[in-house]
Amino acid sequence: MIKACIFDLDGVIVDTAHYHFLAWKRLANELGIDLTIEDNERLKGVSRLDSLEIILNLRGISLPTEEKERLANKKNSWFVDYVLRMSPDEIFPGVKQLIHELKKQNIKIGLASSSKNAKTVIHLLQIENEFDAIVDGTMIRYSKPDPEIFILAASKLGVEPQHCLVFEDAEAGVEAALAAGMKCVGIGSANQLGKADIVISKTGEFNIATLQQLSTV
Ligand code: G6P
Ligand code: MG
Repeated sequence: MIKACIFDLDGVIVDTAHYHFLAWKRLANELGIDLTIEDNERLKGVSRLDSLEIILNLRGISLPTEEKERLANKKNSWFVDYVLRMSPDEIFPGVKQLIHELKKQNIKIGLASSSKNAKTVIHLLQIENEFDAIVDGTMIRYSKPDPEIFILAASKLGVEPQHCLVFEDAEAGVEAALAAGMKCVGIGSANQLGKADIVISKTGEFNIATLQQLSTV
C-alpha cells in the first residue's frame, strides 16, 4: 500500500532541469566542450561537483579541486540567475492538483532533490508548505543513484520505503528509488527511464486511480 509520494524537483515539479542544462552548456562551451542534450541526461539528479566531473570526463580533462570548485560556483551563479526570475506559474500543469488529491487520500508528500537550491526554488514557487518532509542536496552525503536521499525522506515522513512512491525524471533518480526499495514513476521517455514501474511523459498526467495498483505490499 502506498502511504507516501516523494517528488524530485528539477524536471518533475518545474522545468529547472532546463536551467541546469543551459548553465552547464554555457560553462562547457567556455571550456571548449560541446554538451549535447544526450550528455545532459547523465547530469540529471547528480550533484553539482559530480556533474562537472562528468562534463570534464567528456574530454578527459582533469583539474585541481580549487579550479573545479571555482567552475562549479560559476555554473551555480548562472543557474541562480534563472531561478531568481521564476514565479509560481512555472509549476508544471496539474502538479499542485495532484499533490492536493494525494493529500485528500491521506498520502504523505515528500520532496527529495539533490539540489542545494531546492529550498530557494520551492520558496519562489510558493509551495514549501505543501511538503511533509524536505530533503535537499545540503542534507545528503551521496547523490542519486545512491538511495540515501530517498531513505532519509522516507524516515522523515515516518513511512517505510516499501510504502513510498517516487516521481523522478532522471535515470540516476529512478535507480536510487528502486535501490531504496520504493516504487517509481518515471517522468519522461521510456527509453531513458525503462527501469521505472511506469513511465508517463508529464507529472500532471499521473492517474491517481492507479496509485494502489503500483503497490505489491
Ligand atoms: C538536481 C538536478 C541536477 C543538479 C543537482 C544539484 O538533482 O537534477 O541537475 O546538478 O540537483 O543541483 P545544485 O542546485 O545543488 O547545483
Ligand atoms: Mg530531476
